[in-house]
Amino acid sequence: MSQDDTMDHAARAPVHLGIIMDGNGRWAQQRGQPRFMGHRAGTTNIRRVLEASVTFGIKVLTIYAFSTENWARPPAEVRTLMQLLSRSLNDQMGELHANGVQIRHSGSLVGISDTLRRQILAALELTRHNTRIVLNVAFNYGGRAEIIDAVQRLMADHVPPDQVSEDLLGDYLYTHGLPDPDLIIRTGGEYRLSNFLIWQAAYAEYYATPTYWPDFDEGELYRAIVTYSERDRRFGKVKVG
Ligand code: IPE
Ligand code: IPE
Ligand code: MG
Repeated sequence: MSQDDTMDHAARAPVHLGIIMDGNGRWAQQRGQPRFMGHRAGTTNIRRVLEASVTFGIKVLTIYAFSTENWARPPAEVRTLMQLLSRSLNDQMGELHANGVQIRHSGSLVGISDTLRRQILAALELTRHNTRIVLNVAFNYGGRAEIIDAVQRLMADHVPPDQVSEDLLGDYLYTHGLPDPDLIIRTGGEYRLSNFLIWQAAYAEYYATPTYWPDFDEGELYRAIVTYSERDRRFGKVKVG
């Protein structure tokens, strides 16, 4: 990939990219390794894709790291996933902050250990004024839970029914203030949303690749963006011309 290619496509890159980082377990299995090795490799890969996203001009990167449904996995695997987030925040926060990355969290803090909750809140606070790219971590995230959460808070705020609009509901979602995702990439070969950004992705373009998440590199991201830039987003309208 030449620098010219990068520049050429930067203009057509999505503003907000969402990634369903799937296939860690199968990546490890393929190598005869335990699943946690796949999660470890997958966590390392986030850095590579984050840096490539900055290069391609993406402004918001939302990564699906742990779903509300993932609690149903064996306790040891859930612990591994919690530890990996905790360790990443611990080891990488300084550098992410120095590189102008704003961390956001989309999801619930209920059920997360006190230590991890404190780490997440500290990362949000430390990086809140950074503007280079937003890394929005969908952790303990479920799209349905998010909508229920929003409706409960709307009602608690006594919002009159006729004032509930799409914009107002959007303000009550975890993603408030962020633009809707333009492109959703799913690695690992499945063709489903698995409860990811179900409200926000109403008009997103979808891209699925069989590549397992730990192997999804800059070149794969580039291909996804090129495919995206060739799509015709009509938003329900008739194309003019
Ligand atoms: C994605 O990889 C990571 C999480 C869901 C947390 P998986 O763990 O789902 O990997 P596969 O789908 O079993 O290969
Ligand atoms: C989606 O992957 C959730 C994350 C990537 C965090 P899953 O592996 O949990 O999804 P399903 O079970 O295949 O739908
Ligand atoms: Mg999976």
